[in-house]
Amino acid sequence: MKVNKICCIGAGYVGGPTMAVIALKCPEIQITVVDVNKDKINSWNGPLDQLPVFEPGLDQVIKQVRGRNLFFSADIDNSIFDSQMIFMAVNTPTKTSGEGAGMAADLKYVEECAKKIAEVSRSDKIIVEKSTLPVRTAEKIKEIIYKHRSNDVNFDIISNPEFLAEGTAIEDLFKSDRVLIGGDESFSGQRAVSALVEIYSKWIPKEKILTTNIWSSELAKLASNAMLAQRISSINSLSALCEKTGANIEELSRAIGMDNRIGPEFLKASVGFGGSCFKKDILNLVYLSKYYGLDDVADYWLQVLKINDYQKDRFTKKIISSFKNIRDKKVLVLGWAFKANTGDSRDSAAIYVAYNLICSGARVYIYDPVVSKAQILSDLNFLFKEDNISDVQKTIFSEKLFIINSFECEINSSDAIAIITEWDEFRDFDWNKVTKKPLIFDGRGILKDFYYSIGK
Ligand code: NAD
Ligand code: UDX
Repeated sequence: MKVNKICCIGAGYVGGPTMAVIALKCPEIQITVVDVNKDKINSWNGPLDQLPVFEPGLDQVIKQVRGRNLFFSADIDNSIFDSQMIFMAVNTPTKTSGEGAGMAADLKYVEECAKKIAEVSRSDKIIVEKSTLPVRTAEKIKEIIYKHRSNDVNFDIISNPEFLAEGTAIEDLFKSDRVLIGGDESFSGQRAVSALVEIYSKWIPKEKILTTNIWSSELAKLASNAMLAQRISSINSLSALCEKTGANIEELSRAIGMDNRIGPEFLKASVGFGGSCFKKDILNLVYLSKYYGLDDVADYWLQVLKINDYQKDRFTKKIISSFKNIRDKKVLVLGWAFKANTGDSRDSAAIYVAYNLICSGARVYIYDPVVSKAQILSDLNFLFKEDNISDVQKTIFSEKLFIINSFECEINSSDAIAIITEWDEFRDFDWNKVTKKPLIFDGRGILKDFYYSIGK
C-alpha cells in the first residue's frame, strides 16, 4: 500500500519531532499532527523559538517542513478521515486510580484514540502504535475498533515504538540504532509492516529496520527502557560502596565499561534517573509480571526503582548532614530539567531534592536555563498534594523558595550548591572565580577537579 497521507494523534515530545523528521525525509507524504490541546497546536504553529518542545535542531527541521508537508491541526476527525496511516503518539502515564493504580499504564488516551479512529474512518487504515504500551495492547485496540467501526473498513494495527531520548531527539531520529516494527502474520498485517518499512527506508539503512511479531515489538520497548535504567541503578548502587571503601566511581565506571561485553554507555553515576519514561515503564513491567504470576520477576525489576529512590534520598541526606543544622542555610540548586538540553522536568531528581531540602528548613535557590518558573512551581505543587500539605505549611515553604534567572551572583553567598542537571553552562562556568567556597555536591560529576561528588 502506498501511503501519501499520515495523521499523528498526539503533538507531544514524541509526536512533534518524529513527524517533523518523517516529513523532512519523505516530502511526498503529507503529515498532519493533531492534538486535543489547542494551545499546544497553536504553539507548534507559532514562532520557532517558542515551540512546545525544546529540542536541539528541532526548529531547523520545522522551519523546512512546516506548511510544506507538515501541518499541525486541532481538527482530529478530518485528519483521521483523510489519512491512510495513523500514528498514536499519546501519553500513557501510570494509572492513578482503579485496577493497577500506581503501577499499570493508563491506556485511556489510547482507547479514546482507537474509538475515535473507528467512528470517523470510512476507508482502510493502518494504525501505528507509537506510544509505549503494555504487551498485548494491540489486541485491546482491535477489540475497541471492531466494536465502534460503522462499516466494513479494514484496520491493521502495527507496533513501532519510539526509542529517541530527549535532548538528542533529532539526532536519534536521523540515525536510529534500530527501527522496530511489529505486525501480525496475516497478509494485510505484513502489507502494513511493509508500508512503514518503506517510509523509514528513505533514510534508515535496511539492516537497521527490524521486523518482528507484534508482541515482541511492544515488549521490547518496555524491556529496553528497563535495561537502561537497570544499568544506572547498578552503577548508582556501587557509588554508595565506593564512598565507604575509597574506590572512585568514575574510575570504576571506566574500568567496567572497557569490557566490550559491557560497554561504556549508561554507566554514569548520578542523583538518580528521571524523565517521563523509565519509572513509568518499569512500573508497567512490574505490573505485567505480577499479572502473569511472575512475582520473582516483578521483584527483580522493582529493585531498580528502589535503588533510584535510595540514591535521590542519599544525595539529599548528604547535603543535610554536612551542616550541624541546615535551617536557613542557603542552598543553590543548579538545574531542574531531568537531563541537559531538554525543558522537560517530569520526574526530575531536582524536584525530590529541592522539596526535601526546604522541608528540612533550608532556603533553596533554584536555577534552570530552560524550565520555566511556572513549571517548577507546578512540579513542587504536585508533591504538596501527594503529601497533603496544609496552606500554612505551603506559606512557610514558599518563604524558603527562590526561583532565580541567573546563578552566578548567588554562588558566593551560598552555603551549598547542588548540581542536578549537567547543563553546559555549569560545566563551562569558571569555578575558580568562586571566592568563598560553598560545599559543592556535584550529582552529575561534571566539575572534575573541584567537587565533592556523590561517589567520591
Ligand atoms: P506528551 O505528554 O508530551 O504528548 C502526548 C500528547 O497526546 C499530549 O499533547 C496530549 O494532549 C495528546 N493527547 C492525549 N490524548 C489525546 C487524544 N485522545 N486525542 C488527541 N491528542 C491526545 O507525551 P510524550 O512524551 O510525547 O509520550 C508519548 C508516548 O511516547 C508515551 O507512551 C511515552 O511513553 C512514549 N515515549 C516517550 C518518549 C519521550 O522521550 N518523551 C520517548 C519514547 C517513547
Ligand atoms: C529514555 C531512553 O533512553 C529512550 O531510549 C526512550 O525512548 C525514552 O526514555 P530519556 O528519558 O529521554 O530517554 O533520557 P535518557 O538519556 O535515557 O536519560 C534518562 C535519565 O537517566 C536522565 O535523568 C539521565 O540523567 C539519567 N542517566 C542517564 C544517568 O543517571 N546515568 C547515565 O549513565 C545515563
